[in-house]
This record gives sequence, C-alpha cells and structure tokens, in this order.
Amino acid sequence: MTDTAQARAGDRPSRLTSRAGGALRGVAVAPGDKSISHRSLILGALATGVTEIEGLLEGEDVRRTAAAMAAFGAGVERLGEGRWRVDGKGGFAEPADIIDCGNAGTGARLIMGAAAGFPIGVTFTGDSSLRGRPMGRVLKPLGLMGVAFTGRAGPRLPLSLRGGDLKAIAYRLPEPSAQVKSAVLLAGLGATGETQVIEPILTRDHTERMLRAFGAEVSVEDTAEGRVIGLRGGQPLRAANVRVPGDPSSAAFPLVAALITPGSAVTVENVLLNPLRTGLFDTLREMGANLTIANVRQAGGEQVGDITARYSALRGVTVPEARSASMIDEYPILAVAAACAEGPTIMRGLGELRVKESDRIALMAAGLAACGVQVEEEPEGLIVVGTSGANHAVAGGATARTHGDHRIAMSFLILGGAAQAPIAVDEPGMIATSFPGFTALMAALGSRIDAA
Ligand code: S3P
Repeated sequence: MTDTAQARAGDRPSRLTSRAGGALRGVAVAPGDKSISHRSLILGALATGVTEIEGLLEGEDVRRTAAAMAAFGAGVERLGEGRWRVDGKGGFAEPADIIDCGNAGTGARLIMGAAAGFPIGVTFTGDSSLRGRPMGRVLKPLGLMGVAFTGRAGPRLPLSLRGGDLKAIAYRLPEPSAQVKSAVLLAGLGATGETQVIEPILTRDHTERMLRAFGAEVSVEDTAEGRVIGLRGGQPLRAANVRVPGDPSSAAFPLVAALITPGSAVTVENVLLNPLRTGLFDTLREMGANLTIANVRQAGGEQVGDITARYSALRGVTVPEARSASMIDEYPILAVAAACAEGPTIMRGLGELRVKESDRIALMAAGLAACGVQVEEEPEGLIVVGTSGANHAVAGGATARTHGDHRIAMSFLILGGAAQAPIAVDEPGMIATSFPGFTALMAALGSRIDAA
C-alpha cells in the first residue's frame, strides 16, 4: 500500500468490487483537467498578482501542488468548489519544509523546474510510488542549466536542489514527455538567454498555452527536427484567470463504460478537446465506437465539447505508435475496451507506460489475464485479444492488483461492469488522486461498484 493510501486506510475501503448491473444512462460532468490544474497553480504562484481558478481538479495530486505553492510563499485560498485564488509574489521563496508531492509525477517535475529559477534550496519527496519513478529525465536538462542536485541514486526522490543563476539551453527531448518539456520551460523563465525545447514527438502543450495567457512570449516553430519551443528568460508573468476544462483522461472511464455495456448511452460534458489529448477518442472511433461530440466551444483558451458514447460492437485495431503521446494515460482503459472488442488490439511504442504511477503494461496484462482475457506483454507493448463483447463477455471473477495506481483501479472497475463475474480492485483510495467522486459519478449512471 502506498503512503497516501495508508494514511486513508481508516476512512476508505481497502477493496472495491464492480459487477454487471444493466445499461448505463445519464449525463456527467468531467472533473477538471489534472495537467491544467497543476499548471494553473504553479503559474499563478510564479506570477505577480491574483489569479482566480475555476473548475480546479480537487484531487490529491493537485492539492499537493496547491500546498507546495503556499510553501513557496504564494497566498493560496480555496473559495468554493473548484474555485481557488492564488496570490502570486512574482517568484518562489525558500520553503521552510520538505515539498511532498504525494503521488504526483507532474507536480514533482514541474515544481522542480519552476523552483530551479530561484536562488533557493528545496528538498522534494513523494509517496512510495513517486519515490520509485525516474527523475534523471528532469535532472539532466536542469543540471545543464546550472541547477545543483543532491540525493538518492537513480536518481530518485527524495532529492534536494539549489537553483538560481541559470543559463538557457537548447534541449532535445529524449523521450516524449510534457513533464520534462514543462520543467525546462519553467526553469527557462529564470535563465539568461533563450531556452529552447525540441520535441520530435509532440506532447500536450498546456504549459506553452498557459505561459502565453500569463503574458509570456513563447515561440513555436515546426521544423524538420520537430517542434521547437522557445522562451526568453527574465519575462515576468502577470496573473490571469483560468477556467479549467474537464479532463479527457477522466472522461474516458464513463465513456468506455457506456461503449462496452449493452444498451448504454452516456454523455460527459465539458471535455477538453485539445488534439494533443484526444488520441483515445480517435482510436475508439476506429474500433467502431459510436461517439458523438456536440456543443463544441472555447473555454479558458482551449476547445471543449460534450461527448456522448453509446454501446457499440467494437473491433480490435492496431493503434498507430505515433499517436501514443496523445493518449498515453488512456492505454489502461483502451485495453479494457480492447478486451470487449472482437479480435486483437495491438498497442506498441509504450515504453513510457512502464514508468507511470505503476508499470501499467505489466499490471494491465496481469489483471486482464486474471479476468480470462488473452493478452501478450511486450517490452514496450501490449496485445489484447478481445472476447467479442456482449456475445462472449470477459469472464472476470478476479481481484486486479493496482500497485496504488488510480488509472489501473478505475479501468478494472469499468471492466467489472461488463464482465460475467465481479471484478475487485485493491487500494481504491488512490482513485482520489485524479478522480475524486469517481464511484459516485459511476453510480449515478447506473454502475454497481461497492466496498466489498
Ligand atoms: C502530464 C504528462 C504525461 C502524463 C501525465 C501528465 C503533464 O506524463 O502521463 O499524467 O501534465 O504534463 P509524461 O510527461 O511523463 O509523459
């Protein structure tokens, strides 16, 4: 059990079980986007003035980032549900205590980048999952910029950094990671010269968009080498209000639940439609999913819409590897859809999935196999042979090990609703890191998920 789960063991069940219970119907609102929520707090704290945020995801991960921003000297206040106020002081002061990012890789890596620009010493830690995740990918570019680190080999958290007096670099991302890109850009704010990040594979661009919304000039150029993002150091950020759109990575769970549960029709409103985040929906459509998007509009500098999913006979597909960055967090729930489709779904180019909150390739393979699904695990891929949905539903009747990974837990709970026998998950308390209210939202749509 992770530390976060342990702390809550007293008030949350240690297992949840999901069983088939008929069609899912209704309308839900997606919780705030996790990536944009972290960034709104961090940029709000780096800026000068008062930033008001609406629709902030109030999951554990984002709350850790809010607490960290207060520790760096910003005024951080919760005004109401999803409504937060950040009084930024135009920079970070040295925190009096260790910054504990909990389960959040995004929080840890982005805050390291943001803190690096200031002449302060900071020690970072996290829960047992985060302490096991690779940090060298951030330390390497920040080290080239002049940040000094001390800490565990690996390198892993806990570790300490001393920032300030940075020089700009041009950094080509060795792995497609928006977290690393963002850490370098945020450090670049405090560096002398123009920092450049070169992305051979495009990743989510929320940092670039939000930096602009906070008054920074950010150049973006597509070249033969990839996308080059440039940011001049020393630019001050001005407070800006942020409306956080709904998280497509969370919306994916009720939408896939409707696709695989006979007779279902579910609408999720206010879903972020940034093309760098919507690879799952393209893939599901290729599988034959009946997905419709209505009421497309602009909100907070991003396009959002209402997505309706209706039960569909899905077919297996080969997912283009080039699409993986735009749906990296959605492979667990795609694997569930694939288990209910007809024929194999081939997912490759997924090396990054092994270093998420858990080794998601290994845990999906193990859990699906325990539920009677034919799977093949590859070093950087997963092949799931579907059981053809309604005619031959997945057997189920197993407990999926989640290693404290919220997305693994939610994926197997969704599968349980379409399986012949119930599916249980361990450590369900971790779902609150990204989707507080998940079980209540699913119950309102007709799911049967209980503490048992
Ligand atoms: C995120 C980037 C992705 C994603 C994570 C959120 C972000 O991680 O998996 O959930 O907000 O920048 P990587 O940058 O490690 O791919």
